[in-house]
Amino acid sequence: MKTLITNIGELTTNAPAPEHAEGGDDLCGTMHDAAVLIDGDRIAWVGPAAEAPDADETVDAEGRALLPGFVDSHSHLVFGGDRAAEFEARMQGQKYAAGGIRSTVAATRAATDEELRIRLRGFLDEMLAQGTTTVEIKSGYGLDVVTEERLVRLAAEVTPEVTFLGAHVVPAEYADRGDEYIALVTGEMLDACAPHAKWIDVFCETGAFTVPQSRRVLEAGIARGLQPRVHASQLGPGEGVQLAVELGAASIDHGTYLTDDDVTALAGSETVLTLLPGVEFSTRQPYPDARRLIDAGVTVAIACDTNPGSSFTSSMPFCIAVAVRDMRMTVAEAIHAATAGGAAALRRTDIGRIAPGLRADVVLLKSPSRVHLAYRPGVPLVEAVWKDGVRAV
Ligand code: NIG
Ligand code: FE
Repeated sequence: MKTLITNIGELTTNAPAPEHAEGGDDLCGTMHDAAVLIDGDRIAWVGPAAEAPDADETVDAEGRALLPGFVDSHSHLVFGGDRAAEFEARMQGQKYAAGGIRSTVAATRAATDEELRIRLRGFLDEMLAQGTTTVEIKSGYGLDVVTEERLVRLAAEVTPEVTFLGAHVVPAEYADRGDEYIALVTGEMLDACAPHAKWIDVFCETGAFTVPQSRRVLEAGIARGLQPRVHASQLGPGEGVQLAVELGAASIDHGTYLTDDDVTALAGSETVLTLLPGVEFSTRQPYPDARRLIDAGVTVAIACDTNPGSSFTSSMPFCIAVAVRDMRMTVAEAIHAATAGGAAALRRTDIGRIAPGLRADVVLLKSPSRVHLAYRPGVPLVEAVWKDGVRAV
């Protein structure tokens, strides 16, 4: 089945083809009056609408904007309960702390698989409707062997990008016995979870895990064939970034408080810095300055970090708008970070761009330009979504 999407007013390819793209420093590989041919689950052709090949079905984009599906490379979607009261208190001056995670752990342990599954699928529908075609999902609200195994198993039902985050915080029953908990995470829990996961993650932060503990977790995961990614420098500066770079992590996430040495280390590495604008928004923390990072040569991604504590948005368009407004990214940089950047943070080369041979994950906006994603914050601008070549919205 071949589908031609034609009469695209503004096409964001993130993959400049020398003969068509606008050249210069156009990060987005922009084309105007373009068409995209989808064949099965792949992009088959990209070029000027006037030269488009025949297809079984034609969709008229009516001059609107088409871009790659968003790649949301950081989320925590399998959990029970919510923490609306905690958010409300925070908006009245209470400070955010890592310990809030434990209240979600209690609700998650109490939920059945079916309850968690229904909730998870609801979040995915919500995300798809907002243009997200790939999502990474972490465990981390079980913190015992049985529940962590349930969380990664449920996540693996819906995405290949599954992350084992048994080292999210020390659970209440291990209070003051952090090293014993690390022994559980790197032993029996890892054995149960590794078969369902691609990634190993740790929250390297005051109130969560120290650098030596984080190293033990990541090295144990690597030894089991998992690839590392790290939560760090969310609540204050620390050495998590340096550890992530040293171990060749695909991404360090948050980076709200980065030292100059962190920025230098990231710029000379293959590690992506994943910015989470929803977290600073929802915890009233200072926004990291994306200009400082990008100008230093750091590769950045934007993700939602959907979770009941620090960021309960599932909207990549919202995060793009905040990144532009408050992290000083250009619109082109933010769109690129939410698509190609997310793909880099997941070490994926088959998504995040629109080019022949790649997965046909594309989003048609109701607007003539991608700029509207930041210019019209909070407005539902997604007209249609194709995921693996199938019309999903
Ligand atoms: O990514 N940083 C650690 N984990 C989550 C917060 C989880 C929570 O508060 O429940 C995050 O922000
Ligand atoms: Fe997170």
